[in-house]
Amino acid sequence: MGIKSLDDLLSEGVSGRGVLVRSDLNVPLDDGTITDPGRIIASVPTLKALSDAGAKVVVTAHLGRPKGEPDPKFSLAPVAAALGEKLGRHVQLAGDVVGSDALARAEGLTDGDILLLENIRFDPRETSKDDAGRLKLAKALVELVGDDGAFVSDGFGVVHRKQASVYDVATLLPHYAGKLVAAEVKVLEQLTSAGERPYAVVLGGSKVSDKLAVIENLATKADSLIIGGGMCFTFLAAQGLSVGSSLLEESMIETCRKLLDDYGDVLHLPVDIVVAEKFAADSPAETVAADKIPDDKMGLDIGPESVRRFSALLANAKTIFWNGPMGVFEFPAFAAGTKGVAEAIIGATEKGAFSVVGGGDSAAAVRQLGLAEDGFSHISTGGGASLEYLEGKTLPGIEVLGRPNN
Ligand code: 3PG
Repeated sequence: MGIKSLDDLLSEGVSGRGVLVRSDLNVPLDDGTITDPGRIIASVPTLKALSDAGAKVVVTAHLGRPKGEPDPKFSLAPVAAALGEKLGRHVQLAGDVVGSDALARAEGLTDGDILLLENIRFDPRETSKDDAGRLKLAKALVELVGDDGAFVSDGFGVVHRKQASVYDVATLLPHYAGKLVAAEVKVLEQLTSAGERPYAVVLGGSKVSDKLAVIENLATKADSLIIGGGMCFTFLAAQGLSVGSSLLEESMIETCRKLLDDYGDVLHLPVDIVVAEKFAADSPAETVAADKIPDDKMGLDIGPESVRRFSALLANAKTIFWNGPMGVFEFPAFAAGTKGVAEAIIGATEKGAFSVVGGGDSAAAVRQLGLAEDGFSHISTGGGASLEYLEGKTLPGIEVLGRPNN
């Protein structure tokens, strides 16, 4: 059964009809200021198309990981304002999730209006493991758009979550993939199926345990798998090297040793490291060989020789997937590794490679380092979701869209 698209819904007619949209508006905030609006911008085309077509649009989304109760720190208020600005039209914010204010506002919507519900994770049923609880919340969401409503799934970043607003609502309403979800799935399909070789994968980020499944899966598919970021130190430790006070997952050392034994010819580790005494922007930086990390220093970036070697591998690649920064790119002294690798990927893309940036952090790095977003073939809005897709897992929020519409 194919997944129905937003165009299918638009051609069925939405004028005057309630449409519930699940967006991923989970953007990084610093003291209430949005530091990277990428996900908000990516959510605009679907919402605009529905509003233009005269739908009464009810948007549900999460922000962060509140503890299942209202918490002003995680209010979607700054997001509602930014979304309104990007859309060029007013976005109302409900004072609750599916309570009396949301209901009253939903009832008051006129054609083309957009209502954003408060953080869906303020309701503990959203992320509950109890199917009945989640279904109850899904039914409350359905009530907001009425019996002839429709559901558009557009929050690609959450489709790997079996949650009420992602999965359960789709079992209750006619469901469609929004523009963003459709575009992201198409790219990932391209990456996994007919990808041209050599296929290079670049993985960074802090924890091996988060990336283990994807490493195991992609090590059998990729021609080279480049490892940087905090997690490289557990691999270096598995090679018997001393990593000083760098990030280390002791419990994963044995697993890394096995990965190096099994896929040593595919895995590529940094050969030099930028170290400092403290995890701080102003801690003096020094580059050392990967086997000479001083006991009292921590690695905060990959070094220039590693960047050169990784760049050489990337220069030949025809298909590239990148997830996770190479170092603490937020601190200028430790950003060169991430920037260098990103530039190598842009260079390969200019020569015709198909490149995908997956993950909130790497996407944020691209923007914060001032790199051209259109230097890559695609920048995904979903970190966990794109990784799980590439691990070969079934994503609940995608699987449910393939079921027949009721
Ligand atoms: C993300 O930030 O990757 C998505 O918004 C999903 O958020 P979550 O990991 O808290 O479910």
